[in-house]
Amino acid sequence: MNNNVEKTGSDAEGSFGDELATGTPLLRGQYTIDRFLNSGGFGITYLASDSLDRTVVIKECFPSSMCCRTNNTVRVRSRTHKKEFEAIVNLFGQEARALAKLQHPNIVGVHQVFEDNETSYMALDFVRGRDLLDVIEEEPHLLGAEQIKSILMKMLSAVGYIHDRGILHRDISPDNILLDEWGNPVLIDFGAAREEATRVSRVLSAQNTVKDGYSPQEFYIAGSKQTLSSDLYALAATFYHMISGDPPPVSQLRLSAVAEGKPDPYVPLLGRMKEYDRFFLGAIDKCLSVFPADRLQTAHEWLDEIDEPRRRKLALQKAQKDEAMEQTIFALVEQTNKEVVAEPEPETVQKAVPSPAPIPAHEIASETLKPRTPFPELRDNPTVILSKPDGNKSFFERLIASPFRRRSRRTKPQSDIVGKADQ
Ligand SMILES: Nc1ncnc2c1ncn2[C@@H]1O[C@H](COP(=O)(O)OP(=O)(O)O)[C@@H](O)[C@H]1O
Ligand SMILES: [Mg+2]
Repeated sequence: MNNNVEKTGSDAEGSFGDELATGTPLLRGQYTIDRFLNSGGFGITYLASDSLDRTVVIKECFPSSMCCRTNNTVRVRSRTHKKEFEAIVNLFGQEARALAKLQHPNIVGVHQVFEDNETSYMALDFVRGRDLLDVIEEEPHLLGAEQIKSILMKMLSAVGYIHDRGILHRDISPDNILLDEWGNPVLIDFGAAREEATRVSRVLSAQNTVKDGYSPQEFYIAGSKQTLSSDLYALAATFYHMISGDPPPVSQLRLSAVAEGKPDPYVPLLGRMKEYDRFFLGAIDKCLSVFPADRLQTAHEWLDEIDEPRRRKLALQKAQKDEAMEQTIFALVEQTNKEVVAEPEPETVQKAVPSPAPIPAHEIASETLKPRTPFPELRDNPTVILSKPDGNKSFFERLIASPFRRRSRRTKPQSDIVGKADQ
């Protein structure tokens, strides 16, 4: 919705009947309700003014399926739901306090968490602007490729920030990302408490906490494991919608198609949009994989893929690492070669008997003992090995795992060898 309007005091538009009226004071007059914004089933959002007449947004815990309001006070419709309601109010407060600790330019700031009217509230920074859904629907060409890329990078920074603190958003979608006056995206409406509420409340468990097109398939399965990549799926779906004009197909339908051996109805972005590079589109496609294991796993990983300077830096680091490894291998091979060459060609001696089958002494006597290296190819032609680019790693592994140096120096006393062979 476009909230870039002056406060008019009108609360009639879109009201649902149980919201606080314009002018209602909260927290002993510290805030005054200006107008109703939305009811999301679990809570009601208002525009309000604080005591310094600054605009704020107030979210009220109001699970409408079990509550009603009498003289502003929120009450359960049936006493049987009292305990559930208390648990939900607690969860709302807990989440609000957790969010209040977050400080990120692309995450809405929480000013205050308080109780009033027998329920919980949080006061949020007012973001003057509009949400992404509004932009997609009303002015789909407003944002160019460069702006969309920049918005995604900022969102990834925000999502990485919450994930690093053990928080999942759980409801990323175009209507929960606001664009401020300067075009900066701000993430709002964390859904984890809502999800938790459906677990503690039988009444709310029937309520949908998924958003078709944006929620990954695991959100449709009660009790399923939700990971960081679940948020990444929803973020990718949001950007898929912005870029292609449509949200991706409902993930549940995708899952059942795949389960039935039918083609996934998802149409990848890669190869379709000329204004975006393949890394950018490929990363969105990857994050929109049906199965979590096939997605990128963290926001940082996603940033590494699409941010060109980061990608270049990582490639350089990798090349440097490879070069260092190459040099180590080269030095080790050279050293090994020197040792092999320096080792005097042994006189004609009796060869040690390979165990377990003893060879009769007369067969051994005339054998010339060659330098014993586990890499005959190295002894014969070291440059061949060095010039095998693909062989370096496994060769290196063999080299360092090998008892080559010790074994080449160990010579058993002749008597021992003969004695053993004679047995
Ligand atoms: N901090 C904010 N600044 C400006 N507008 C907001 C803010 N928070 C919410 N809104 C507006 O109110 C709408 C509903 O709020 P939201 O937190 O998404 O709750 P819900 O979706 O559960 O109703 C948003 O889509 C947005 O348009
Ligand atoms: Mg919302």
